[in-house]
Amino acid sequence: MKILVIHGPNLNLLGQREPETYGVITLEQINNELSELAQKNNIEIEFFQSNIEGELVTKIQSAGLNNFSGVIINPAGYTHTSVAIRDAISAIKTPVIEVHISNVYKREDFRHKSLTVSVCKGQICGFGAQSYKLALQAFLDE
Ligand code: DQA
Repeated sequence: MKILVIHGPNLNLLGQREPETYGVITLEQINNELSELAQKNNIEIEFFQSNIEGELVTKIQSAGLNNFSGVIINPAGYTHTSVAIRDAISAIKTPVIEVHISNVYKREDFRHKSLTVSVCKGQICGFGAQSYKLALQAFLDE
């Protein structure tokens, strides 16, 4: 099994960015924890972060072509705005789980709408950095 984890815009700033909302864990620490969980379960895992919408689209497309069993994506701000990212997820057969660190439904109204969730297998949000691990566990339990 091979899983691709995609982090959207501003998630490279985790650790220093709005710690009251996103905690103090860095992106590197999140990726390390996921790598550990993947290693324990003998699966491959790859990580990608970009602040650029088109790069995220290209990476999602590549997951469809490169034999990934699943994609975990935090589209971050693009969750609420990006038709292009939604279309890329919709274009591939690989199942995609959307994750969010914060509970977007407890926040501003504009975060309540996800353009991407309806083309995903499901969504996990509000569990802090653990949201990513829960998503990986969901693929492992399949
Ligand atoms: C986020 C929630 C989004 O609304 C926000 O734009 C982010 C992070 C989260 O992980 O909680 O950048 O996706």
